[in-house]
Amino acid sequence: MEYKVVENSIDVEDFIELYKTSGWCLFSTEVFSKALKNSYFSVGIYINNKLIGFGRVISDGAMYAWVQDMIIHPEYQQKGFGTIVVKRILDKLRKDGIPFVGLFSAEGKKEFYFKNGFRERPENAPGMYIDLFEKYKSIG
Ligand SMILES: CC(C)(COP(=O)(O)OP(=O)(O)OC[C@H]1O[C@@H](n2cnc3c(N)ncnc32)[C@H](O)[C@@H]1OP(=O)(O)O)[C@@H](O)C(=O)NCCC(=O)NCCS
Repeated sequence: MEYKVVENSIDVEDFIELYKTSGWCLFSTEVFSKALKNSYFSVGIYINNKLIGFGRVISDGAMYAWVQDMIIHPEYQQKGFGTIVVKRILDKLRKDGIPFVGLFSAEGKKEFYFKNGFRERPENAPGMYIDLFEKYKSIG
């Protein structure tokens, strides 16, 4: 299957279309636009000019990075595209010398991240969060 990988210049409308397939809470175009613009690194996969895969990184550029919004369009899942996105992200962070990469796995997806080298936090030192506006009923 022919595909094109795009870094850091993903169109916000394309992103929103793909994001909708995830079922996660939606924000305004303005918020999505700002989020993309302020991301440290983003990767998109296009097939026939349609964005079918995405992932982005939030980072201080030195010590820590956080992977967010990993989405492969349902019609293209289980074909290796998620792995392509994660590998691009990890290659970039390795190149930039950023050692710690975190993420929250969505329900049922942790095997995918295990296969890509991620580990779970120990039970006595879990990842934590607070949802200040009660937006994230479902989050990826
Ligand atoms: C999770 C997601 C990004 C994985 O992308 P993908 O393109 O389907 O994954 P790949 O085809 O690259 O899969 C790589 C490996 O992980 C496995 N894998 C993928 N999804 C899996 C799942 N849900 N459960 C178990 N294994 C899974 C694949 O079988 C494959 O294994 P193999 O190398 O032994 O063949 C994709 O399913 C998705 O976008 N889901 C909806 C949104 C979402 O939940 N995103 C995660 C946010 S944290």
